[in-house]
Amino acid sequence: MLEGRFITLGVTGGIAAYKAADLASKLAGQGAAVHVIMTRSAGEFVRPLTFEALTGNTVNSDLFVSSPGLKMPHIDLSGQADLLVVAPATANILGKLAHGIADDLLTTTLLASTCPVLLCPAMNVHMYANKAVQENIVKLTEFGYHFVEPEVGRVACGHFGRGRLAGTGAIMRAITVLLQSPGDMKGLTVVVTAGGTREPIDPVRYISNHSSGKMGYALAEAASSRGARVILVSAPTALPQPPGVEPVPVETAREMHSAVMRYYPGADIVIKAAAVADYRCERQAADKIKKTGEKMTLELVRNPDILAELGAGKREGVTLVGFAAETSQLEKNAREKLSGKNLDLLVANDVTVPGAGFGSDTNIVKLFFAGGRVEALPEMDKLAVAHKILDAVMTVRKTNK
Ligand code: PMT
Repeated sequence: MLEGRFITLGVTGGIAAYKAADLASKLAGQGAAVHVIMTRSAGEFVRPLTFEALTGNTVNSDLFVSSPGLKMPHIDLSGQADLLVVAPATANILGKLAHGIADDLLTTTLLASTCPVLLCPAMNVHMYANKAVQENIVKLTEFGYHFVEPEVGRVACGHFGRGRLAGTGAIMRAITVLLQSPGDMKGLTVVVTAGGTREPIDPVRYISNHSSGKMGYALAEAASSRGARVILVSAPTALPQPPGVEPVPVETAREMHSAVMRYYPGADIVIKAAAVADYRCERQAADKIKKTGEKMTLELVRNPDILAELGAGKREGVTLVGFAAETSQLEKNAREKLSGKNLDLLVANDVTVPGAGFGSDTNIVKLFFAGGRVEALPEMDKLAVAHKILDAVMTVRKTNK
């Protein structure tokens, strides 16, 4: 898959720099031409010789010294690259990049690049949570940089929390997705919803469902890797943020409704993979409800149907995609939702079938098109299903033109 691809790997000065050696080794093992740029601080943690032995290429670290085959290092290492990866990316490199500072080989290469750039932050837990760092990440995401979020765990300084460099597997997956991209969604804005909304009963309890968010996150990741600007309106999940997407966290159906309505005017495509609660408690108790009688009744009222509202006021040029989570009569219910909500495409899954629906890493779906065509897909990894759905969306958009 990576055979012959030119990957420039920036290594910056954090303890996780030693893990970049494993990444360089895996990339080279898959046939990529890996050219490493080390910052001066990275050299305090690992020796260039490690990367030279693993990649077979000279490591570059000086803006003014050309290694064999390179005339101007920052221009060649950006211009020839199919992908630029920075792992680990320290708070310092994120800050410089967010503010256009170019004062060494890595920063000049990054600013001169036109290929996709994948940033893999790793730092102390409190540094990562720092407002300045978080603002820089938001800014860089808006600029179109892709991210692999750090993991939660114990970091070298002994603190526990988010800050540990993502595993080599997760970084390799993001690299593969970025390099496979057909780029056919460049210029499009996609709003994806994901996860199960939570409807509070009292300050400690809520009504929800089994959605893990995996299907919606896979769609967001796939659309972003194909070049789209992606706004991910997500109910609470335990998933890391997919690279390059703009997160909009929500909790309740009404919060999801206002977030979707806020982004709808600028959207070309809306994909509603979220499992939205149809009802909420009429009144949320101010205090924790105490056990009293043997029975208790909650009065529920209807939530807004977000997708139906979008369908009713559908704008020209917008593609609306809904999901249907069914336990029986899949075809009948799917067709009713497709026409009832005025959708272009409906993705139906029978959530009682093993390998489909809630929580699993795979899904088995049937695509119902507005024109009447139905396409059944076999069991596939949710990212592969996401790409099939996006292929269908792009076909629908072409035929609707
Ligand atoms: O998150 P995972 O664990 O990966 O699981 C994936 C999934 C099963 C949640 C997903 O594949 C799926 O089927 N999502 C839709 C679930 C659902 O709520 O279906 P529904 O048939 O109740 O709703 C139909 C459509 O209307 C959906 O697109 C839904 O987002 C939307 N809707 C529903 C109710 C509401 N009040 N507002 C809405 O917009």
